[in-house]
Amino acid sequence: MTEPTRAPEPTPIDPAVEAALVASRAARAEALLELARIPSVSTEPEHAADMVTAAEWIAARLRGLGATEVEVIRTDLHPIVYGRIHEAPGAPTVLLYTHFDVQPADPLELWETAPFEPFLRDGRFVGRGVADDKGQIVMHLAALEAMRAAGKSPAVNITFVFEGEEEFGSESLFNWIPQNRHRLAADLALISDTGYFEGNVPAITIGLRGIMYAQIDVELSPVDLHSGQYGGSVENPANALARIITALKGPDGRVRIPGFYDDVVPLGDAERAQMAALPFDEEAFREETQVPALVGESGYTILESRTARPTLDVNGIWGGFQGDGAKTIIPAHAHAKVSTRLVASQDPQKVFEALREYVAQVAPPGVKVTTTFIHGGEASLTPIDHPATQAAARAIRAIEGVDPVFIREGGSIPVTAAFDHVLGLPVVLAGFPQPNSNAHAPNEWLDERNFEAGTRIMVRLWDELASVPSGS
Ligand code: BES
Ligand code: ZN
Repeated sequence: MTEPTRAPEPTPIDPAVEAALVASRAARAEALLELARIPSVSTEPEHAADMVTAAEWIAARLRGLGATEVEVIRTDLHPIVYGRIHEAPGAPTVLLYTHFDVQPADPLELWETAPFEPFLRDGRFVGRGVADDKGQIVMHLAALEAMRAAGKSPAVNITFVFEGEEEFGSESLFNWIPQNRHRLAADLALISDTGYFEGNVPAITIGLRGIMYAQIDVELSPVDLHSGQYGGSVENPANALARIITALKGPDGRVRIPGFYDDVVPLGDAERAQMAALPFDEEAFREETQVPALVGESGYTILESRTARPTLDVNGIWGGFQGDGAKTIIPAHAHAKVSTRLVASQDPQKVFEALREYVAQVAPPGVKVTTTFIHGGEASLTPIDHPATQAAARAIRAIEGVDPVFIREGGSIPVTAAFDHVLGLPVVLAGFPQPNSNAHAPNEWLDERNFEAGTRIMVRLWDELASVPSGS
């Protein structure tokens, strides 16, 4: 996949802001390294204090920007950072969202350097969170800092919301949003937690999948049993779990839970044609992913299967003897983490109920099987022709010199649907890391060129958004 030929506008942003960005290049890079050094792993309780440190770091920078009402809001779990720069009376208000939590760094042995000792070398940041999603936090802060240095105020009003639970379902934010509608009043939401398309092609994401995450526990007895003495006379939880999992999805990639596809909005011909026209090279994608073969849903292309169709995956499976050598037991219990990726207009709760019923139905007798809901979030779709989406496209075109492609992504950002359904806001998903940045994996990276481009796109985008009609 080759990079697109780019011809940016000669002076796409205010020359004084550009000069400030040139002057602050090293400091901006250092800011990202500083934030990425804070191990804000939201799912690990031992990092609870780091979550607060990361929140305070962002709040301090917001205060430095002259933002008002800056607050690190405590929740039942990790804090939310709030603030606003409302200096453009009569102009639209943009709710800007990113997240400061990161995924766990394991497996540590596959990192070439320590995950929380990030560095910038040969034009590339490496470290946990540099792409997902701390690089984008710093791009936003740095864009506004450079505007301030040049004496410029954003042409729109900005309300900031940064959260610390995105990587496992955004529960605290979900609880906070409905109680704080007045503080979140806006004309549109801008989310920077997506990236460019394959080949580092600038992109605007118009669709995200939803998610429903559950755990299946299969129990036989409080203790392991001797497999010679008991084998053949009791059900084996690991065998039973394997049978359950096999029943969930066929070799054709179709999920077999009854009713699973009932609410799925089918892909239209126009959309399929648009996806087929994207510069997606399956073989290059396969190679980069280092898998022997790509396997999608029958009747759909790989790109459709991984971004616009629902699916189901086992995320983890354990139980029984895992050590070297052999141990002859019938495990006391076996477990699996299972998640589904959902599309419009599947309801995570309804999908969970269907999963639970189906698991109970296919579970063999002789073991106790429980299915537990862990988290859920709905899919989202934004129209390409929305004025805010078009404003983002113009900003990208000005800096990158190419029109962005409009893509769907297979990942989930649970709050997207809440901004849409609870606050009634159109959502623009504009993000700047490469798609193969090893998010959630060892050696996560972000090219400084994308960091620099993303920062300038944001400077330009604040101007472009000023022309979006309120309430559109
Ligand atoms: N940045 C990702 C979402 C994403 C993934 C966007 C791929 C575009 C492409 C986000 O931080 C993420 O990983 N979300 C989780 C959410 C889930 C745990 C509720 C995900 O998709 O697994
Ligand atoms: Zn993520």
